[in-house]
Amino acid sequence: MTAPEYRPVSHSRTTLTELMIPSYANFGGKIHGGILLSLMDKVAYACAAKHAGNYCVTVTVDGVNFLQPVEVGDLVSLLAAVNYVGNTSLMVGIKVISENVKSGFVKHTNTSYFTMVAKGEDDKPAQVPGLVLETHDDARRFLEAIKRRELSRRYQTEFAEAKSILTVEEELYLLQGERCKVAYK
Ligand SMILES: CC(C)(COP(=O)(O)OP(=O)(O)OC[C@H]1O[C@@H](n2cnc3c(N)ncnc32)[C@H](O)[C@@H]1OP(=O)(O)O)[C@@H](O)C(=O)NCCC(=O)NCCS
Repeated sequence: MTAPEYRPVSHSRTTLTELMIPSYANFGGKIHGGILLSLMDKVAYACAAKHAGNYCVTVTVDGVNFLQPVEVGDLVSLLAAVNYVGNTSLMVGIKVISENVKSGFVKHTNTSYFTMVAKGEDDKPAQVPGLVLETHDDARRFLEAIKRRELSRRYQTEFAEAKSILTVEEELYLLQGERCKVAYK
């Protein structure tokens, strides 16, 4: 079956809810960041593959900042939607919320953006359907994604350049005031 030329955002909108069990906790009793990252990757895949109608791989992840801890016993929901499509890539926005089932208190722990690429039968990047923006928010997210991509590309180029001209001997003075000691000659 050939994929349609366009698919609406609502076609692939996906929610994954999971109970935070004790084996997910770190030594401080809070949920490991890696557990949340794994769930985010899973929901990003489900959402991207549904839009693409193809197998997808994760290329980059933006905006992973865990601002609030998640507790054992919380119900975590990951709300995913395709925010942007390029030619073979697409960006999935994921909002993570955590609910205390006893009090009903809900906190927003983070919002992150997964860029995925669709792969065809030949394992090469495959074109994804265009995106039908059904709401004002869909249009806002698409425009924000364009800016996010531009800034990310600019950052990568500028950082690669800064790294290529970095001379340790000349820039050691920048370590003054940092919490480190140079212990080699
Ligand atoms: C992602 C991958 C398919 C890109 O392959 P490639 O030969 O560089 O393909 P292209 O240059 O044609 O890029 C394909 C798309 O990926 C996008 N892309 C590639 N690198 C990117 C990056 N660092 N950030 C954002 N997008 C990127 C390109 O912009 C392009 O998007 P578009 O078609 O919408 O314009 C390839 O690097 C790969 O398979 N990586 C492994 C991914 C994986 O296995 N992930 C699981 C975690 S281990």
